[in-house]
Amino acid sequence: MEPRDGEVIRQAQFTLRVNGQEHPVDIDTRTTLLDALRDRLGLTGTKKGCDAGTCGACTVHVDGKRILSCLTLAAQCHDREVTTIEGIGNGASPHPLQDAFLRHDGFQCGYCTPGQIMSALALMAEGRTGSAEEIREYMSGNICRCGAYQNIVSAIQEVAGGHGPAV
Ligand code: FES
Ligand code: FES
Repeated sequence: MEPRDGEVIRQAQFTLRVNGQEHPVDIDTRTTLLDALRDRLGLTGTKKGCDAGTCGACTVHVDGKRILSCLTLAAQCHDREVTTIEGIGNGASPHPLQDAFLRHDGFQCGYCTPGQIMSALALMAEGRTGSAEEIREYMSGNICRCGAYQNIVSAIQEVAGGHGPAV
């Protein structure tokens, strides 16, 4: 990130705790959590879509709550627990929600999917999965340009407690 005219750049040294692992970092204080995850820690599962807080592709959890990592400074996460898509499961041992997205065709290009899954996990913790309408409302911050919404809702419903197929 280039400094603007007259801008004083400050570095911050701290530890980022991500998916249970500690990562000492020394970064420009203006660095977003999204850029720190992707560019510093190599955790590229979290996607950059709009980089402006409107698409949800960058959703991760901080202390168990979903946040937009493009709108969060990495330095704000000092001493907090960050969880990314890499922390919930993998190809050999997928999280039930990852498995459900696969079986329900909850994606096409897959670019939005990590953010969708991290939001869906939070939605279940928030108790906002009572109906397809409620899921749609509370997932509305996660945009899918491929239009896989119907199948995303079906996958969430299955894992959240068998409310039947979304209509
Ligand atoms: Fe963060 Fe779009 S990249 S909301
Ligand atoms: Fe392509 Fe959602 S699967 S943007």
